[in-house]
Amino acid sequence: MKVTAKANANIALTKYWGKKDAALKTPWNSSTSVTLEGLETTTTVEFDKQYKKDVFVLDGKEYAEDTDEYKEVKEQLDIIRGKAKSKLFAKVVSKNDFPTAAGFASSASGLAALTFAASKAAGLEFSVEELSKISRMGSGSASRSLIEGFAIWHKGSRADGDDSFAEQIAPISHWLDFRILGCVTSKKAKKVKSRAGMAQSVKTSPIFETWYTTAEKDAQQMVKLIKEKNFEALGQLAQKNCILMHACAMTTTPPIIYWTDGTMQVIHRVFELQDEGMKAYFTIDGGPQVKVICLEKDVPKLKEELSKLDLVQEIIDCKPGKGPRVVKEHLF
Ligand code: DP6
Repeated sequence: MKVTAKANANIALTKYWGKKDAALKTPWNSSTSVTLEGLETTTTVEFDKQYKKDVFVLDGKEYAEDTDEYKEVKEQLDIIRGKAKSKLFAKVVSKNDFPTAAGFASSASGLAALTFAASKAAGLEFSVEELSKISRMGSGSASRSLIEGFAIWHKGSRADGDDSFAEQIAPISHWLDFRILGCVTSKKAKKVKSRAGMAQSVKTSPIFETWYTTAEKDAQQMVKLIKEKNFEALGQLAQKNCILMHACAMTTTPPIIYWTDGTMQVIHRVFELQDEGMKAYFTIDGGPQVKVICLEKDVPKLKEELSKLDLVQEIIDCKPGKGPRVVKEHLF
């Protein structure tokens, strides 16, 4: 069977930075996020005897077996084949619909779309909870892309990792005027991937324990603030949590500094706007782009101000988005 699915990226409101169990891919702390409309991956998967090995094509480029991208897809297919008791190879064709700026992308939408499409193509019907756990094995942040709107990925406490999955905090309809402005400051690929960076932080950052104990409390507090729609407190908490995650990355040996001149320019402008009474807050994942958390009514003014910054190349306006869904049009 051939199945095509779409899934959206998400931005962490309180972050995940560090695996507690490298094999089970469980995190040191819970994290929260909002799934983003418009930052979308579409993936078609077909398991069939005609394939003599797995094939993976992303944005028109076929990846060779020795590439990290191919290995990630194959590992995810292996998990699904194991559950389906199948030995069939698959063809996977995927495309990212991100508006021009590739630097804004994340592995979350890719792994979520792949897990969703491949399970259905293998004839398996999983609950969202199960799909979130399987996506977690491919990429931690992908576990949260299974959820519409606002999500928490529970760190879990079971030795087998079975209670580490993402769950909805609130759907899109809960907060229709919530917005994220993605400020693209660089389109270059980042030097240190999140996966390798966080593994090094676990081993060497002297503030790692402070990071994950604080981040766990932040995630629980974030759930409350989302439910209450307390925008100002949510923004302040997201910003504070982001700074601590980056402090943990920066105090890693060797240091991981994702912030560039463009990142700093946006941060300082957001601080100035806050001083002028604007309710806008920044958050940054493992890269130089800055995501500004705001409400719809402030989007025109913020876009006007942020686009004046010479190091901001593009601004992507995102609403809370849907979870994965099956679509009829196949990519091959
Ligand atoms: C900084 O989910 O990409 O974006 O689990 O190794 O695939 P792996 O890492 P990944 O890391 C995301 C880190 C982050 C924060 C976050 O999204 O919570």
